[in-house]
Amino acid sequence: MSAKVTVIEHPLIQHKLTLMRKTDTSTAKFRDLLKEIGMLLAYEVTRDLPLKFEAIKTPLAEMNAPVLAADKKLVLVSIMRAGQGILDGMLELMPSARVGHIGLYRDPHTLVPVEYYFKVPHDIEERDILVVDPMMATGNSAVAAVSRLKEANPRSIKFICLLAAPEGIEYFQSVHSEVPIFTAAIDERLDEHGYIIPGLGDAGDRLYGTK
Ligand code: URA
Repeated sequence: MSAKVTVIEHPLIQHKLTLMRKTDTSTAKFRDLLKEIGMLLAYEVTRDLPLKFEAIKTPLAEMNAPVLAADKKLVLVSIMRAGQGILDGMLELMPSARVGHIGLYRDPHTLVPVEYYFKVPHDIEERDILVVDPMMATGNSAVAAVSRLKEANPRSIKFICLLAAPEGIEYFQSVHSEVPIFTAAIDERLDEHGYIIPGLGDAGDRLYGTK
């Protein structure tokens, strides 16, 4: 059985996602929205982070108060370039997390991902990875990125996106069945160019105003 696909249906995320989908949303607004959604997604996907207790003093008393047991043990891995948009939001909430980058582009004819960059923290074997990419379309990039990360033997991997196509989820789960997927929505399908329908267009182009 495959790991869970969690659709994060929080109303704030859904509202912001609708704004991002609109054609007339500006590049600056699109970037702000993706960052905000990145923060909200970070909040949801870190619900299971372990806590430990630390003796502190408030102005009135001493107490044992909860703090994150392992926030320095998280690695956020962005699939460039669109992953940067979510990463920026997540880092606002988790400034101590380490960051890795995987550069992949889709060959426009074959849609096969081609790696041009790979840099992750050296001690990844002791870390839990959150891989971020706004769009899980064919699933090719997601599968390639997770396969590459598995070679480094991390403690665990979660995959986080904004939009997923059913085709992408199916392919991803056929290769990485134990890796949970978190997404804000599952759209209808892919078009013949591998774009998500209805989707929001090319996330990288909309994020950075390129074409
Ligand atoms: N990548 C995008 O940016 N958008 C899509 O719809 C599919 C892949």
